[in-house]
Amino acid sequence: MNIDNEILINGNGTKFLTIKRGFLEEYIVWFSKILDLSVKLYFQHDCKMESIYEIDAPDDNNLAHIARNSSLTFDEKIVLLLSVIPHIRPQILDTFFITNTNFNRAFTEFGGWSGKNHSGFLPTGETAAFILAGNNIEKRFELLRIFDRDHFFYKNNILIIDNVGTGEPFLSGAIKVTGEFLTRLTTGEEHKPDYSISFPAKRVTTPLNWENLVLPHEVIDDIEDINTWIAAKNTIIDKWQLNNIIKPGYRCLFYGPPGTGKTLTATLLGKRNLMDVYRVDLSMIISKYIGETEKNLANIFDQAINKNWILFFDEADALFGKRTQTGNSNDRHANQEIAYLLQRIEDFPGVVVLATNLKSNIDEAFARRFQSVIYFPLPDSDLRYELWKKMLPNLWIENGGVDIKSIASEFELSGGAMTNVVRYCALKIVSRQMTTVDMALLFEGIRKELYKEGKMI
Ligand SMILES: Nc1ncnc2c1ncn2[C@@H]1O[C@H](COP(=O)(O)OP(=O)(O)OP(=O)(O)O)[C@@H](O)[C@H]1O
Ligand SMILES: [Mg+2]
Repeated sequence: MNIDNEILINGNGTKFLTIKRGFLEEYIVWFSKILDLSVKLYFQHDCKMESIYEIDAPDDNNLAHIARNSSLTFDEKIVLLLSVIPHIRPQILDTFFITNTNFNRAFTEFGGWSGKNHSGFLPTGETAAFILAGNNIEKRFELLRIFDRDHFFYKNNILIIDNVGTGEPFLSGAIKVTGEFLTRLTTGEEHKPDYSISFPAKRVTTPLNWENLVLPHEVIDDIEDINTWIAAKNTIIDKWQLNNIIKPGYRCLFYGPPGTGKTLTATLLGKRNLMDVYRVDLSMIISKYIGETEKNLANIFDQAINKNWILFFDEADALFGKRTQTGNSNDRHANQEIAYLLQRIEDFPGVVVLATNLKSNIDEAFARRFQSVIYFPLPDSDLRYELWKKMLPNLWIENGGVDIKSIASEFELSGGAMTNVVRYCALKIVSRQMTTVDMALLFEGIRKELYKEGKMI
């Protein structure tokens, strides 16, 4: 297989489709022919054909795959290409710069809008109507459906018609392809949005693997349920037609003391199932962006649906605490936002994980909304032994200078605190020019951690 010539599309989280780059070239050639013919037909130049529909569209299905739809109609292909061409082969649209010599101005029927720096032609709805409908009014109306909010172009975040001025015709709006679709089309990769005020979520990853996770058996069993759901969701819902009874989403609540592996587990669930995990920090959102919150959250949920992400709401305490108080107007506003968020979480058809350190505030009605409520305990001495063994580099322990068993049984530390001890020891080994760790240094690191937690020894 010639990899240079292929792009991989992550279709369904786990499924990969192989697409030949060449397909796009074929579409561009087809589009140019259509454009040429539509202009000739409109100006009644001599030509053999009577309609653009006589030029068959490439019947390859790659473009539809990338648009996450089973197929594309002739018109959809043209509109989609029209939105993409300014980004990949802008000169093709130069045809539309011909002047209407009767009036010494551009042709109204071509539409088009002016960019700030781009000197080429940028299409509007009118441009699509010119190519596909010409003077045919009925066809023009039909075309409007492609730009509807119910159409998959809008729903799958592929393209929109934008900037329609007040009182101006709808088709005068610019046709804009989304960065998300363009990235997928040109590189085959998923567009991974960056954290910003309008997108208050960050992708979290981990170099660790499932084998590094150390938790009591019963907790692992509960987490396996989530894995099973992700792997078998389609069978469970579709095959047995349980969609009337079971909501398609899966909501999990992780609670427990700091540093016990809640974030790590959520991240590993994504890694194991080839899904991106996006972490939304609720404490930050709700306090900082009052008013904007709903819009920003909606943005995250909308993107998450299309992309098969796991949504991870960290520090979810903000959701429970404020629900019942109604103090000043800020509180009421926050309550509204929380109600909105809970509704979105409940309706979300994918996997949502909420994490918190507190459980006391979670009322029963709230807990009922979750399919998995999992407690992450502090590790007991056996688990601490496992954790130390996995965390301490072999080079540090192979000479037998440290008694991990006794350290594990003596000091009650979370996995997170242990990672801090390891980091501290590594630093000191370097700065003190030691060759490896010894018991004294480990004690020192552990003491520092316990001191932080208020457990002085
Ligand atoms: N159960 C565990 N198994 C393996 N490693 C762990 C475990 N718990 C914690 N760790 C280590 O500690 C680090 C921090 O843990 P993590 O961030 O998952 O804790 P948390 O429960 O999310 O804490 P917080 O409540 O403070 O957010 C992990 O990246 C991992 O290296
Ligand atoms: Mg965490």
